Amino acid sequence: MAKRPKNKIVPVTFFVFLLVKKMDWNFQDISHQASSEAKAIGSPQDLEAFRLKYLGKKGLVAAVFASLGQAASADKAAIGKGANDLRKLVEELIAAKGAEIISAKIHEEREDFSLPGTLEDLGHTHLLTQTMQEIITVFEQMGFVAIETPEIETEFHNFTGLNIPIDHPSRDAFDTFYLEADDPSAKGRKLLLRSHTSPGQVRIMKQHKPPLAVIVPGRVYRPDAVDASHSFMFHQVEGLLVDEKVSFSELKGLLTEFCRRFFGPQVKMRFRPHFFPFTEPSAEVDINAEILGIQRKKWLEILGCGMVNPKVFKTAGYPEGKYKGLAFGMGVERMAMLKYGINDIRLFYENDVRFLKQF
Ligand code: DAH
Repeated sequence: MAKRPKNKIVPVTFFVFLLVKKMDWNFQDISHQASSEAKAIGSPQDLEAFRLKYLGKKGLVAAVFASLGQAASADKAAIGKGANDLRKLVEELIAAKGAEIISAKIHEEREDFSLPGTLEDLGHTHLLTQTMQEIITVFEQMGFVAIETPEIETEFHNFTGLNIPIDHPSRDAFDTFYLEADDPSAKGRKLLLRSHTSPGQVRIMKQHKPPLAVIVPGRVYRPDAVDASHSFMFHQVEGLLVDEKVSFSELKGLLTEFCRRFFGPQVKMRFRPHFFPFTEPSAEVDINAEILGIQRKKWLEILGCGMVNPKVFKTAGYPEGKYKGLAFGMGVERMAMLKYGINDIRLFYENDVRFLKQF
């Protein structure tokens, strides 16, 4: 709204002095003056000052009435009428101006509902959460159930129960953050941050009898120096299927179908023999990066897998020779990097919205 000029209020005493002295009120001039002052009123404050000036206890109308006492008898009637007319005029001016100010204010504050709306910039789940959810969904479609197990683990679940002996060099592959807290279940041993999701296998097998088909998604920790492909914390999804008859070809079929659903039907993969203490035989799966349109290396490893080592069944307390199982573990960051063409793992954790917004 354009600023209106402030009403200039001439002190009442001036009028009183001037007019009382002369004792003849020029009502025409006063009315004229009041009307032009009213025109300049732009705010409720101005309006109140105007009211006080004319209608207040010490205002002009009161002064005119007060002057009646000293007026000549012949003038009294005219002065009284003049005062009344002036009061009426000022009241009308105030009413009109008041209505005008209110409607201007309403107009100023009114919303224009015909304007186009402003869209709130809504956030969404992080790309890692999305990827994790995509992986979980594919396995759920195949009958697996997702279960979370603790990030703070014991040496037993992270190593021993998985056939990784305490002082065996194969532990080096799962370099570990130890906590200062003691493991209440093993004297002299410390708790640790799990270095993979495989301890979930041990926990689940100790609690449930076959048949079972579970996946364990979650964070894992390793004291790796951070670079484009390493982080001290990352995510894995573990898988475990145990029943009386499970074969390696089922493992291959399951993971092939998973990759097709996750990456698309064009995906090309290969199984490469490998060693893991908790599976026998074991393999690593590589994805053909060229087909996914990613430069760098031709084959990129995405997961480890194999048939559950009977020693693991034994520590879980399953009867010897009764069950077979397949297991696998994949890195979620790696899967997301391949699927979405991301070349630096650090981008996941920096939370720069320019990166996050793209997915
Ligand atoms: N835990 C392994 C790792 O972190 C991955 C893995 C390999 C999981 C083979 C498995 C498996 O279940 O069978 O490197």
